Amino acid sequence: MCGIIGCVGRADETLDVLVHGLSKLEYRGYDSAGVALADDTVSVAKRSGEIDELRALLDETTIDGAVGIGHTRWSTHGPPTDANAHPHGDCTGDVAVVHNGIIENYQSIRDELVADGHEFASDTDTEVIPHLVEDALADGAEPMAALRRALDRLEGSYAVAAVVAGREAVFVARNDSPLVLGLDEESQPHDESTATGGATRATYLASDVPAFRDYTDRVVYLADGEFARLDAEGWTVTDGDGTPVEKEIDTVAWDAEETGKSGYDHFMLKEIHEQPRALRQCLRGRVDELGAAVDIEDLGDLSPTGVQFVACGTSYHAALYGAQLYRRAGIPAQTFLASEYATAPPPIGDALVVGVTQSGETADTLSALREARHRGARTMAVTNTVGSTAARECDHALYIRAGPEIGVAASKTFASQLAALNLLALGTAPVDRPRETIAGLRDLPGQVQALLDDSRASAVAEQYQDAGAYFFVGRGHQYPVALEGALKMKEITYKHAEGFAAGELKHGPLALVTDDTPVFAVVVGDGEQARKTVGNVKEVEARDAPVVAVTDGRSDVERYADEVLEIPETHPEAAAVLANVQLQLVSYYTAKGLGRSIDKPRNLAKSVTVE
Ligand code: F6R
Repeated sequence: MCGIIGCVGRADETLDVLVHGLSKLEYRGYDSAGVALADDTVSVAKRSGEIDELRALLDETTIDGAVGIGHTRWSTHGPPTDANAHPHGDCTGDVAVVHNGIIENYQSIRDELVADGHEFASDTDTEVIPHLVEDALADGAEPMAALRRALDRLEGSYAVAAVVAGREAVFVARNDSPLVLGLDEESQPHDESTATGGATRATYLASDVPAFRDYTDRVVYLADGEFARLDAEGWTVTDGDGTPVEKEIDTVAWDAEETGKSGYDHFMLKEIHEQPRALRQCLRGRVDELGAAVDIEDLGDLSPTGVQFVACGTSYHAALYGAQLYRRAGIPAQTFLASEYATAPPPIGDALVVGVTQSGETADTLSALREARHRGARTMAVTNTVGSTAARECDHALYIRAGPEIGVAASKTFASQLAALNLLALGTAPVDRPRETIAGLRDLPGQVQALLDDSRASAVAEQYQDAGAYFFVGRGHQYPVALEGALKMKEITYKHAEGFAAGELKHGPLALVTDDTPVFAVVVGDGEQARKTVGNVKEVEARDAPVVAVTDGRSDVERYADEVLEIPETHPEAAAVLANVQLQLVSYYTAKGLGRSIDKPRNLAKSVTVE
């Protein structure tokens, strides 16, 4: 949610680095974009709309400088206009600030500043920051101290980067919103023992690594409450009191090419097709060759007597699935929408609280995990993002290893979450028939590949593209898949879609079913659950709804279906991943047929860092 980029480099390169970085961060917000470059003066260029609008503006403008910041916005205060685009400035034009987060007390500060004669140019909460910095500079504070003084006044969350005229440096602060530094290959710490600085050819700053991954794989993750200064001599990280902080330099494990489209029309399609690899990566080294044991790093001797999952959106659907795995292993497990967790917190007892969050930065999930910690729980992050806030704050982190996901609608991360949650359950609970589950997981990459090579999803999508609404039903492990199928359809087609537990249809939703509402039914196996779901399918078929069966062909659902999307026969846990791939493809091709903005659906952002 909002993307920040910063660079201290060469005057002839910095602007290009900023714009390229913004294009890599567009998935975090795409309402408007802007840059500011600083030398003796500060020059700002910003525009509402996507990055191409900014590029067009820059084609007509001459601004350069070795030091700069940039921002791509997802609106929280004020509509997406040129004036509300970041960077924001002060009255003198000597300060420019980009911000990700929400300042809760901005109105009272703004009123005070206006009463003191400050003139505001935007409706944003952010704009109070440059004006506060301006006041502190006027009182003689150095820029870093001025930023600290300004931020001391704020309540809320922020990742902030600022430039000041005459100071060839970027001043940075983080509180509750992610920021990471990128260090060019030549960067050596001034002092190897503390790693608090280094001479560099270029130093980068961003909300997320893909923004500068084309230039370096060496990164330093900032923690909440830390400040950083980047300049031509290097970089320094300090704590709230200004004391240098010893930081570890990490190396990013994935390549720059992984953040390109590789010939696919959309990132989402590429990421759907990357699922075999993502699943292989998730399993690598964690199940033994004979499929007999699970070995997951960093779990210690965890044997939870209860598990509470907290998550949002797609990750919530994965968490519903995870809780079923534990319950089937005889361990009490519940799933909570993270945004609801604190409203009536459940008794925690000895439960492990697991935050499922691909970004590791979702504000609702972080706040639920903090609530749980505050109440004495052990916590775990199941996440895709090494160094994320969730990974750092929790007692344990289990990485799903899906690789970077740029499409705003989650695809491969959901598959990898399901696989990782299986590993977690297998490694920490007395799961029934573990060998079969492990065998199912090990078969998944090949089966997903076979399904992708031979899916009829695009034909089904074309057939029902003009439908009035879409319903998705499933039971057991296929219920979260039905919910996820509907969420994907809503997100990228903008059409009405709902997922239901198959048995719930007759308790109300059946009233919505007509010949204009295709029902996607996920039916796996030939047991009691499948038989009941087929019964529910007959009920919608009798009301003339078109039925699309997503099935391994073992039940007789095909008799009642207008269309069939096949999945290979496998273990029911693994079948959920396969069925979901078919549904992802249906949503993708429906959205494509409707000409939607698939990778950047309206009103959405990938990482939702506000509550
Ligand atoms: C939907 C989607 C969102 C996220 C949700 C939580 O396609 O991606 O629903 O799942 O915003 O995000 P994370 O997993 O980063 O906590």
